Amino acid sequence: MSMEITAWNALYNARHAKDDQRPFSRATLRRIGRFAAPHRRALVWFLLLSVLTALLAVATPVLAGRVVNAISDRAEQRVVIGLALAIAAIALVEAGINLFARWLSARIGEGLILDLRTAVFDHVQRMPIAFFTRTRTGALVSRLNSDVIGAQRAFSDTLSGVLSNLVMLLLTMGVMLTISWQITLLALALLPIFVLPARRMGSRLARLSREAANHNAVMSTQMTERFSAPGATLVKLYGRPEEESQAFAERARRVRDIGIRSAMLQMVFVTTLTLVSALALALVYGLGGFYALRGDLDSGAVVSLALLLTRLYAPLTALASARVEVMSALVSFQRVFEVLDLRPLIEEREDARPVPAGPVSVRFDAVDFGYPAPDKVSLASLEEVATLDARGGEQVLHGVSFTAEAGQLVALVGSSGAGKSTIAQLATRLYDTDAGRVEVGGVDVRELTAASLRETVGMVTQDGHLFHETVRANLRLARPEATEDELWDALRRSRLDGLIEALPDGLDTVVGERGYRLSGGERQRLTIARLLLAQPRVVILDEATAHLDATSEAAVQEALAEALEGRTSVVIAHRLSTVRSADQILVVEAGRIVERGTHDELLAAGGRYEQLYRTQFETSGTAGTSEPSVPQATPVA
Ligand SMILES: Nc1ncnc2c1ncn2[C@@H]1O[C@H](COP(=O)(O)OP(=O)(O)O)[C@@H](O)[C@H]1O
Ligand SMILES: [Mg+2]
Repeated sequence: MSMEITAWNALYNARHAKDDQRPFSRATLRRIGRFAAPHRRALVWFLLLSVLTALLAVATPVLAGRVVNAISDRAEQRVVIGLALAIAAIALVEAGINLFARWLSARIGEGLILDLRTAVFDHVQRMPIAFFTRTRTGALVSRLNSDVIGAQRAFSDTLSGVLSNLVMLLLTMGVMLTISWQITLLALALLPIFVLPARRMGSRLARLSREAANHNAVMSTQMTERFSAPGATLVKLYGRPEEESQAFAERARRVRDIGIRSAMLQMVFVTTLTLVSALALALVYGLGGFYALRGDLDSGAVVSLALLLTRLYAPLTALASARVEVMSALVSFQRVFEVLDLRPLIEEREDARPVPAGPVSVRFDAVDFGYPAPDKVSLASLEEVATLDARGGEQVLHGVSFTAEAGQLVALVGSSGAGKSTIAQLATRLYDTDAGRVEVGGVDVRELTAASLRETVGMVTQDGHLFHETVRANLRLARPEATEDELWDALRRSRLDGLIEALPDGLDTVVGERGYRLSGGERQRLTIARLLLAQPRVVILDEATAHLDATSEAAVQEALAEALEGRTSVVIAHRLSTVRSADQILVVEAGRIVERGTHDELLAAGGRYEQLYRTQFETSGTAGTSEPSVPQATPVA
């Protein structure tokens, strides 16, 4: 490794060191050991090879010294040729070993990345919805990526680097000391001139690059937010483009200034190192030459010393930053473990059982619920990426009890923010209740297997989300084994067949964020198609038709009526056409069920429902465009 490259590496490590180098427990180390265990054999081989490389690296300068001596002693030709051949052989062997060692370290490193990644993905996937509502996904993903890679570096770079550098350093110094301890000590005395300021410069560079990273993060957030279609629309409608540009330019300028300063600092650092090692080299030649002329040293020894010296600084600088490197690698591990240690709030019981066969009822029994507070679902070290939300912890539902008997349709109505969607989420066990119980098919949902609950209860939400995948893949999410005919049938029943047929690639058209943009209504009809395909025994509609205009709504309503036929359903309604025929209507206000009964009963009672009904009936002209959570009265013919 050339000295210059080493210097750059030392700088790189100093700059990328993590801030908080907390102490770690023995437990962390043991856990790392467990992750490394499958790679034990490769590791041992790798370490052995590192030692071997270090030995070979020291041999060459010694042989070079021998060559010089052979020349000055006027030795026989074949001695010189033999030495040269030996040097060539060493170079060959070294190259081979290096290749093999690199292969090993790549295998260990990449293997470790694989293990950590799959473990983290699997774990995060099992986290409760609350975790995802609090955590900015992008930040979490990038953090996990970089930490997983950081952890891998601990093995493939740091561990082997420290060990082989240590061996290299000790061997080189040992050999140099045996050749001439005076010269060696003097050359080493020059080191602090380099090492001490290097550390200071390293930390200054780290500060600068952290600042630049912050600015860059803010800029890229600004860009991703402003340059998405909805964001750009918002800026065009309300934004102040000049001020946005100015703020952006201000940060960009700061990044430029930092870039120039760190480039200069780095150059000073590298120059200092080159200078110090050149001075040390001059010292070796001068002092060595002096001793050689006096006859205390042979000329080969001077050459060996000079060559060895160039190999001394590389491990020294590498080791100077090793502590930081090891610490930051371990911190990476710790951060990955931290995520792995997050307890999923909702776990399947060991003795969980499937939902009983046949038609099932849904029952809420005195349910109290509040969204979990941040500390329950998030992580201190993820706080900087969590959208800090003062809500949570407050009770949202108070003693909610109702039963949707098998095959019945229960409708929920109430003001926006009353708690209707929350009830829907509890029925699908996206959250667990704080008190009381939710039963599906007469069994507490906490005693059911996640898979059977998923299969039994189907939900269509207000913002029908689609993955960035083909129409086919999005539909098959509900039923992977669905045939082509079944797909088209579901599309037909949700009045989407015409649209999908007209798409360039039909069922294979990619939809979602960056794919083909479906309108809100079309997206919702696709999620309804998904529901029709899944044919769950319990259907929960959370304002499923909110985005549809009057015509397509009428069409989908038919399809939905067909889908709901004979199924237990909980429908959060915004159109009274659905509500009117419900077996039971629940009026939810401020987390409580304030009224219940059939449409006629409630109208006759003249309470909150009657009030809602009247107001919406009067404003029915704006149906579908105003606040979607408030029931909209479609003029009932
Ligand atoms: N993820 C969440 N974290 C914390 N509070 C929430 C969350 N989602 C909804 N809430 C709060 O719970 C209450 C009920 O919301 P929601 O059930 O969505 O009402 P609705 O569907 O009736 O409009 C509201 O006060 C809302 O602010
Ligand atoms: Mg809602």
